[in-house]
Amino acid sequence: MKIIVTGGAGFIGGNFVHYMINKYPEDEIVCLDKLTYAGNMETLEPVMEKPNFKFVKGDIADRPFVFRLFEEEKPDVVVNFAAESHVDRSISDPGIFLQTNIIGTGVLLDACREYGITRYHQVSTDEVYGDLPLDRPDLFFTEETPLHTSSPYSASKASADLLVMAYYRTFKVPVTISRCSNNYGPYHFPEKLIPLMIANALNDKPLPVYGKGENVRDWLYVEDHCRAIDLIVRKGRVGEVYNIGGHNERTNLDVVKTVLRELGKSEDLITYVTDRPGHDMRYAIDPTKIHNELGWLPETKFEDGIKKTVRWYLDNKPWWENIISGEYQNYYEKMYKNR
Ligand code: NAD
Ligand code: TYD
Repeated sequence: MKIIVTGGAGFIGGNFVHYMINKYPEDEIVCLDKLTYAGNMETLEPVMEKPNFKFVKGDIADRPFVFRLFEEEKPDVVVNFAAESHVDRSISDPGIFLQTNIIGTGVLLDACREYGITRYHQVSTDEVYGDLPLDRPDLFFTEETPLHTSSPYSASKASADLLVMAYYRTFKVPVTISRCSNNYGPYHFPEKLIPLMIANALNDKPLPVYGKGENVRDWLYVEDHCRAIDLIVRKGRVGEVYNIGGHNERTNLDVVKTVLRELGKSEDLITYVTDRPGHDMRYAIDPTKIHNELGWLPETKFEDGIKKTVRWYLDNKPWWENIISGEYQNYYEKMYKNR
């Protein structure tokens, strides 16, 4: 089987490439990535020499390029991770989110129609459901929860999901969609909560917690997400949406304190900063469908996953120090100065 993995130089796509190359040496993986600020060839370094891996630099929204690639590679399966993925960036500059997340998805779907594939899998997010109130711990997102987005990021991801389902219904493209909760683990770009807090704490810099730090996220170790996608692609039913999450809700403050504890750093580093506009209060996934249909369950408990993650950042300092020493400095200034 030949699989085009888009966005494979990013956090989850990179972990997925590693997972698949090791698990299925007989399959071929072609990674298509634009190498935006979030794409990093060092993430792919461990697989670059594998005979069944190929990297191609390009933009999923570049129609002639994508069509040429499909013509040449004739993939059986496409797994689309490529996206602009950071909510805060979508608030300061929404345009590129529409371009990559919506137009890019549309181009990939057209290429699938034109060249024929056995499966197009769209990697979506639980953020398409909006948020849940803090005082209703009995509520969870199911696949039937209406789309109700808050940020330009989540609106662009929901738009892409609608397009994917339209191509299934109208053109019979064999699609699946997964909507996962917040991931954490190795190769996570340090603009996101957990790696940002690890990097700042290791540099004894303030840890910027938005608002009161009471917002709740449902954390999943990235390898559990990769395993779920693999299962959906191989055994999931065409035309279906699968939620992925492991009932692991934590307030942001809880997460930040856990990181500090793991690193042996003081809670005095915590600094409360102005809240994110439109900040979603709580995400919580009901994973019953993927459990019942595909037997998926998360394998890594948060306590173990966070230890492994902190260890990875300690053992792989060049990977993230390289990132935070470059253009990231300007981003950080703009996003956090005087906040
Ligand atoms: P990321 O920002 O770390 O990586 C995105 C990758 O896509 C980068 O390598 C980037 O270079 C590439 N890319 C961006 N625009 C592109 C384009 N136009 N053409 C080709 N490549 C392009 O993101 P991530 O956290 O790994 O997320 C991957 C996917 O999973 C996204 O679709 C995201 O919406 C979804 N998701 C993420 C989470 C999470 O917690 N991070 C949770 C659920 C779903
Ligand atoms: P993030 O990692 O950006 O993921 P998402 O917004 O997609 O859930 O943020 C996770 C939570 O952490 C979210 O509630 C916002 C909060 N947060 C902070 O408090 N401080 C920060 O510096 C960042 C990046 C996020």
